[in-house]
Amino acid sequence: MEQDINRIGISLPENLLKNFDGIILQRGYSSRSEGIRDAIRNYIVSYEWMNDVQGERVGVITIVYSHSQRGLEDNLTEIQHEFESIIKSSMHVHLDHDNCLEVVVLRGEGQDVKIAAEKMMALKGVKHVKLTTTSLGKDL
Ligand code: NI
Repeated sequence: MEQDINRIGISLPENLLKNFDGIILQRGYSSRSEGIRDAIRNYIVSYEWMNDVQGERVGVITIVYSHSQRGLEDNLTEIQHEFESIIKSSMHVHLDHDNCLEVVVLRGEGQDVKIAAEKMMALKGVKHVKLTTTSLGKDL
């Protein structure tokens, strides 16, 4: 079935676009549009996957963020205090001059783990967040 195609214009930082173009070249996409469509599909799949996380889970949130973004570390700390009842441990690594890595281990209701990850993702200056979850193994 032929679908209607909508055209959109997006603004991107130069570095982000340069990195993206490098990847679509390596992966052999025929056009930038094709690469962006694929990236959006992956974004949707990952969002839907997060929405499906149910029951008691162990989660690991990995965050890479800009150390120089004003207020970001305070906001990250605030979110971790808000979710202290399910956060078991966290680790901070100074990656380089500009970047920090934070790894947070949680155990709790899947939807709470998801909400904690989403709040961290939404912070300005956060470059990358990955949530992985595993079940506790009781039913395996
Ligand atoms: Ni740091």
